[in-house]
Amino acid sequence: MARKTKEYRCSSCGYRSPVKLGRCPHCRAWNTLEEYVEVETAPSTVSKASQGLAAAGIEHGWLGNLLRKGVGPASERDTANDDNSTNFVDSAADTAADDIAHKTSDNIARTATAGAAPRKQSSAVSPETVLRGADILPLTAEDEGREQRFSSGNGEFDRVLGGGFVKGSLVLVGGDPGIGKSTLLLQILGSARTDLPLLYICGEESPAQVRLRADRLGINRASISLLPETEFERIAPIIARLQPSVVVVDSIQTAYSAAIDSVPGSVSQVRDVAAGFLRLAKELDITVVLVGHVTKEGSLAGPRVLEHMVDTVLYFEGDGNTSLRVIRARKNRFGATDEIGMFEMTDRGLLPVVNPSAALLEGRPLSVPGTVITSCIEGTRPVLVEIQALLSDSQFNVPQRMAQGLDRNRVVMLLAVMEKSLRAGLAQMDAFINVVGGLTLREPSTDLAVCAAIASSLRGRPLRENMIVFGEVGLTGEVRAVSRAAARVAEAVRLGFTTCVVPSQCRKAILDGKRSARATAARTAVAKTAAPQTAVAKATFAKTTADKAGSPANADPYPDADLIFVDNINEALDVCLT
Ligand code: TYD
Ligand code: MG
Repeated sequence: MARKTKEYRCSSCGYRSPVKLGRCPHCRAWNTLEEYVEVETAPSTVSKASQGLAAAGIEHGWLGNLLRKGVGPASERDTANDDNSTNFVDSAADTAADDIAHKTSDNIARTATAGAAPRKQSSAVSPETVLRGADILPLTAEDEGREQRFSSGNGEFDRVLGGGFVKGSLVLVGGDPGIGKSTLLLQILGSARTDLPLLYICGEESPAQVRLRADRLGINRASISLLPETEFERIAPIIARLQPSVVVVDSIQTAYSAAIDSVPGSVSQVRDVAAGFLRLAKELDITVVLVGHVTKEGSLAGPRVLEHMVDTVLYFEGDGNTSLRVIRARKNRFGATDEIGMFEMTDRGLLPVVNPSAALLEGRPLSVPGTVITSCIEGTRPVLVEIQALLSDSQFNVPQRMAQGLDRNRVVMLLAVMEKSLRAGLAQMDAFINVVGGLTLREPSTDLAVCAAIASSLRGRPLRENMIVFGEVGLTGEVRAVSRAAARVAEAVRLGFTTCVVPSQCRKAILDGKRSARATAARTAVAKTAAPQTAVAKATFAKTTADKAGSPANADPYPDADLIFVDNINEALDVCLT
């Protein structure tokens, strides 16, 4: 007879409680405790999936163990545990994520082994076995441990991944419904630079729907297979047999394990099935991409632990009301975090945007109060963004403060700093601040631009249309230095801005950066125009050089922008609004 035990677990921090609570006592999140049922199964049934694994030739190893432990007879499960101690203890230095994966099987096994023979004592494992299991590897090994990459065939996606897919990695792609997750990943399967098979597990849409979309996107790659399946125990042997280079699981909330008695999409299902895919990715050295839904609060549905388990977490940012789509790497074990990739949703799917600054500034209002352009560092590159502010007399006792794409608390702090220095009666005004294009900016370098936009709206005076502003603002109203100031100015100059209001503390960084940029440009020019040797080449060279003289291409590669250095917010606002 199966016996059920019920408890409640927090989807945010994993806290366990025997009773349902409205608020988690540990992380203090509301409505995050979800029912979790553990089932003690009768040790009699061998699942079809287990048979499938045997047919696929992987009855040994962790996959075999996972399934045998979960649903196989007690005697087999015991053997499986033994296998683990010898075969898998080579993961003595394994990651915490792997522990979670072990817990998956343990979770399933714990209930199943209750009443069966007790586990063997760890002292039964001989020292030789332990030594054999815990091999020491040199840090500098030539091929072992080096990440092997291949391109997704999409420059922007490669950028957020840190230079392409890494073999044996688990990637999580999150975003609001309808933002374009399925579209993008289908396109990525169509463009990935690999000759191996590719697998799209469609748990949300029918194969016919996916085919229709592929037709529309012009993807007709024979190596892409569709798998309309949601049960993990059926999916695993198919992946093991097919050995694809990329597997897309769309979505992790629809996938479930028959060994866990809770509904698909529940905390335990999402976590344990993801752990299964993690082990599949590592064991078979394939790239698995999990698609995850985002909750109302903006985090991935399922426990936080999901983000800890995977190697890379990518989020679609923005509200999806515009055609621009931004993907940000929130976590990346193989590349820079906070790197963004920008796409445009068209009738041919998501196309990469090669010049994000130009795309974000397209159609911006000129000579209008309340709008300021700033230069941010997103990941590794500078991007120009428009910040808008609207100030109006409040109709309420407590004025409203709204910030879209910025930290609201930071905006409230800046309003307080401005009130102190300007004494403009901001405390009785509603303030609405918006980052155009759906980007979320977390850098304090946007402070000065936010203040300038607020002051511009307040006084009804526009900034000069070719001006950019950046700098951090401190509590005393001082303007502080920001990182990579030279790169920010260079991006502004590239897009034709001629005046930059910047912190005084960045003077040296900007001037040094400018000098080295000029030197690099001069070196490149010399290398390109090295005098040719043959007579014909000499004649052509003379002609092209003459043609180039006076052409825009021959202009200063790093033209001057007016740099206005400021020390405090009063000085900065005077400069901006005159
Ligand atoms: P989809 O990839 O299904 O979103 P998700 O998987 O994140 O839920 O995206 C669906 C949206 O994208 C839908 O609103 C239609 C739009 N779309 C286009 O605009 N052009 C296209 O070529 C495709 C395939 C979708
Ligand atoms: Mg989808």
